[in-house]
Amino acid sequence: MSALTAVDVVKQYGEARDVRALDQISFTVDDSEFVVIVGPSGCGKSTLLRLFAGLIEPTSGDVLYDNESVTGPSRERAMVFQEFNLFPWRTVIKNVTFGLEMAGVDHSECHERADEALSLVGLTDDAERYPDALSGGMRQRVGLARALAVEPGVLLMDEPFGALDARTRATLQRELLSIHSREQTTVLFVTHDIDEALLLADRVLVMVDDPNRIADQINIPFDRPRDSHTLETSSTFIELKRRVRTTFEDSTAAIS
Ligand SMILES: Nc1ncnc2c1ncn2[C@@H]1O[C@H](COP(=O)(O)OP(=O)(O)OP(=O)(O)O)[C@@H](O)[C@H]1O
Ligand SMILES: [Mg+2]
Repeated sequence: MSALTAVDVVKQYGEARDVRALDQISFTVDDSEFVVIVGPSGCGKSTLLRLFAGLIEPTSGDVLYDNESVTGPSRERAMVFQEFNLFPWRTVIKNVTFGLEMAGVDHSECHERADEALSLVGLTDDAERYPDALSGGMRQRVGLARALAVEPGVLLMDEPFGALDARTRATLQRELLSIHSREQTTVLFVTHDIDEALLLADRVLVMVDDPNRIADQINIPFDRPRDSHTLETSSTFIELKRRVRTTFEDSTAAIS
């Protein structure tokens, strides 16, 4: 069954609708599938996630979750942003319970689910600290815990590890992979990093710009659990990386 579907989606911005952020995008994401969108800056990746999150509407075409049109935000579709978006005046645990409180979940269940989410991301001992006192990697873990706590049907992740140093990024990638395999969460993940896309995904959608569209789809053949060191030296990995690069280069060549 498909969790997310985009049907001929066009998104134009501006009063004159002169910015065509997405040009006829169609694809599906199956239940429990981990799909990664990789593409250069400005190709419409965030726009696509914001459509699925229900934060904006398509100019034409349709965006569906669980075979129903998305008409607004929902707890079923949790977004994790590149910027951490934490409340500095709330402790870690209070940041994680926020969405649950808003949804009217009672106090003890809020805390139970927040404790569980914090343990999934390894932050149990930091629950009472404030965001100011955390490193970037820890803040991003709080963002992930906050999304997991609402037990969403799908995680929409917009370059969540882009601002982190390589070692922290590798740790969080590993944690996300193990959460995905344990919880079977459907994930739509955006990045401009080809290695990250190939490491995480069941399927990679390669986006290009001018016009902003999906130029290639790749089923990723690597077994799970995956180990980045072993993967990155495999000939299939190198070949797939080259395939994505060539798609980017061909699209640039076509417009210049
Ligand atoms: N609110 C907006 N108003 C006008 N134009 C916008 C708006 N948001 C995005 N755009 C434009 O739409 C296009 C796609 O933007 P989007 O943010 O989706 O790209 P992106 O692939 O996420 O880029 P990045 O990798 O830099 O985050 C860009 O040309 C951008 O300038
Ligand atoms: Mg973006």
